[in-house]
Amino acid sequence: MHPLLDDDLARLPELLDETRAYAVRLLEGLDDRPVARVPARRRPEPLPAEGTGLRGAVKAFAERWEAGLAASAGPRYLGFVTGGATPASLAGDWLTGTLDQNPTSGIDSTGPDLERETVAWLRELFGLPGEHEGTLVSGATMSNFTGLAVGREWLGERAGISVADQGLAALGPVTVLSASPHSSIGKAVSMLGLGRSALRRVEVLPGREAVNVTRLERALEELGGRPAIVVANAGTVNTVDFDDLRAIAALRERYPFWLHVDAAFGAFAALSPAHAHLLDGLGEADSICVDLHKWLNVPYDSAVQFTRRRDLQIRTFANSAAYLGPLSDDPDFVHLTPENSRRLRAIPAWFTLAAYGREGHAEIVRRDIALAGLLGERIAAMPGYRLLAPVRLNVVCFTLAREPERAGELVTAITESGEAFLTPTVYDGVPALRAAFSNWRTTEADVERVAGVLARLAS
Ligand SMILES: Cc1ncc(COP(=O)(O)O)c(C=O)c1O
Repeated sequence: MHPLLDDDLARLPELLDETRAYAVRLLEGLDDRPVARVPARRRPEPLPAEGTGLRGAVKAFAERWEAGLAASAGPRYLGFVTGGATPASLAGDWLTGTLDQNPTSGIDSTGPDLERETVAWLRELFGLPGEHEGTLVSGATMSNFTGLAVGREWLGERAGISVADQGLAALGPVTVLSASPHSSIGKAVSMLGLGRSALRRVEVLPGREAVNVTRLERALEELGGRPAIVVANAGTVNTVDFDDLRAIAALRERYPFWLHVDAAFGAFAALSPAHAHLLDGLGEADSICVDLHKWLNVPYDSAVQFTRRRDLQIRTFANSAAYLGPLSDDPDFVHLTPENSRRLRAIPAWFTLAAYGREGHAEIVRRDIALAGLLGERIAAMPGYRLLAPVRLNVVCFTLAREPERAGELVTAITESGEAFLTPTVYDGVPALRAAFSNWRTTEADVERVAGVLARLAS
């Protein structure tokens, strides 16, 4: 063994204790360090020919990289839709690396059953019926991709062919209908070979991001009986609007389509009694995307993909080889998603659900919703700002009352203050900002700090 490895192995307990103490210092500093940086690019240094061992690597990392990293695990990082890591999910993540399991196949451990149990817990958390089977993937983009891949195979089934076997050419052009799809849907249709032009925008309701169901019906009618894919949105990224899932699902009685629901973070509305109705009809979807590294507050990267047509999922992703074992009705994960080898990423989700249960996670969701509402009230009361939409769930979408075109400058100024991080957007043609609440640490005091920065910058 290389002497540095030999040395690290001999001192492993001590070195891991040091690393743990460093991690604790990082976590304790989350509240005080600048929330984000306007990054200055770093040029790569040459590969070390001689390493420094683990202690040296921690030191080099702390000196070279620590200061430039965002406090994205902290309470005032409100950009994108970003979760933190609950104590239990973080511990679970450490153990994921420690155990270094590959749940690809079930012939060597019960790891896959841990993932199946986690999926069952998630299904219950979101109130989905038992026929929805799930698999963990790296994020909502991959979850959307997988759901649409199964939908593509369903289109093949309707046409009497298998896209998995015969290729897309046997299927011909495909139509994907959606009102306010997340950008990852465009990426998914591109990767699936359907082409970005397959994605057709359906009109939204006036002043909303939710689909106009009458227009959707008209678009389906125009297809003249040709099966399609409909992507419904349960929580749009700008204003967290929800399509009427029940009404969309009901259209299947008259028109043939695969219903995929992107509920990347909106699925967590199920945990708030006042908002759960927004998901009415979710269980009727054919495939569903939910991110876990957002509102479940597990470390990157983690999401779940649900579908009721596991048979088509297997046809799409089957990875048969003698050494991987036979394909059964309950196949190994290697046959269910684009990934083969991967980490047992269910462990952090299992830990946080085991540690805090449904009620603990419901509290996070309800608190974040209340905090978004509070920031919305504060912003509405400031003359310099204008809310662009009601705060429907956990995102505040707003802009500068007089000069919306300066929203980008405001984003930079907020970042430079070190107090908070918000991301820019364009909503209905207006440059704007979004403050998204999905971190378990955020409190009312954080909202007041963010409101304070906004008040200062407006003046
Ligand atoms: C509605 C929605 N779908 C999909 C995604 C993509 O998620 P990820 O970046 O985890 O792939 C996001 C991310 O914000 C989202 O909000």
